Amino acid sequence: PDVRDVAVGDTVYGLTAFSRDGGAAEYVAVPAADLAPKPRSLDHSSAATVPLSALTAWQALFDHARLALGQRVLIHGAAGGVGSFAVQLARWRGAHVIGTASARNGDFVRKLGVDDVVDHGTTPFETVVRDVDVVLDTVGGTVTERSWSVLRRNGLLVTIVRPPSPEWAAGRAATGVFFIVEPRRAQLNELSRLIDAGTIRPIVEAVLPLNRAREAYERGIRDHPRGKLVLTVVDEQ
Ligand SMILES: NC(=O)c1ccc[n+]([C@@H]2O[C@H](COP(=O)([O-])OP(=O)(O)OC[C@H]3O[C@@H](n4cnc5c(N)ncnc54)[C@H](OP(=O)(O)O)[C@@H]3O)[C@@H](O)[C@H]2O)c1
Repeated sequence: PDVRDVAVGDTVYGLTAFSRDGGAAEYVAVPAADLAPKPRSLDHSSAATVPLSALTAWQALFDHARLALGQRVLIHGAAGGVGSFAVQLARWRGAHVIGTASARNGDFVRKLGVDDVVDHGTTPFETVVRDVDVVLDTVGGTVTERSWSVLRRNGLLVTIVRPPSPEWAAGRAATGVFFIVEPRRAQLNELSRLIDAGTIRPIVEAVLPLNRAREAYERGIRDHPRGKLVLTVVDEQ
């Protein structure tokens, strides 16, 4: 009752609220208002990689940072789940994209849209990057605090790992913000449009069955996969 935007049998995708369990399961209950039509060009496995990571990238760059054409953005973890979408969205917006990645991911992130790649294994980013309008930190640890020095005056540090420490933020001419991604149907609709137009694409490192969920999570932490690992609950074939 009272659900008008989706009908029984529609093929949809969506983000379950960050504060609750329920994603790695055969069934999950979500508010209908959070669902959007799945991108037509993607199978279910690829579509599953979009809502959490791409909504996080979208909200970081566009809701919080208001990234604009010609601005300079530094994306930490450019090859990761959030980073790989953020690179493509920043490029689409017309920003100059700087990205940190390990050496093995250099060419990969360049192809995604990074203009300047910093190999975090050999080069401390703060020795080669300066005057950026926006930093998107998907890595955390010392990366968060080290990022202040590369921001221009009135720049913005957006972190999704943990809030920037108030001591480091104090007295800066730049601002820091931490946020938790929210389900947003309108943004998912826009992401579906960009995906179906071929403007952005999800990166799927591997697809594993739900009964190998433990292995998938361990692999995600240990191996730093490119983009996302997907758990499937039914065989699509
Ligand atoms: N606040 C929110 O709403 C929200 C939403 C989604 C995710 N998150 C959090 O955000 C973080 C990232 O998520 P994710 O799914 O994008 O993770 P991920 O796929 O594991 O990506 C992290 C990437 O960071 C790179 N990396 C590791 N150490 C690095 C370093 N020192 N410098 C630069 N890059 C480094 C790795 O790539 P290389 O191999 O190239 O180094 C890896 O691909 C997680 O902590 C997650 O829990 C928060």
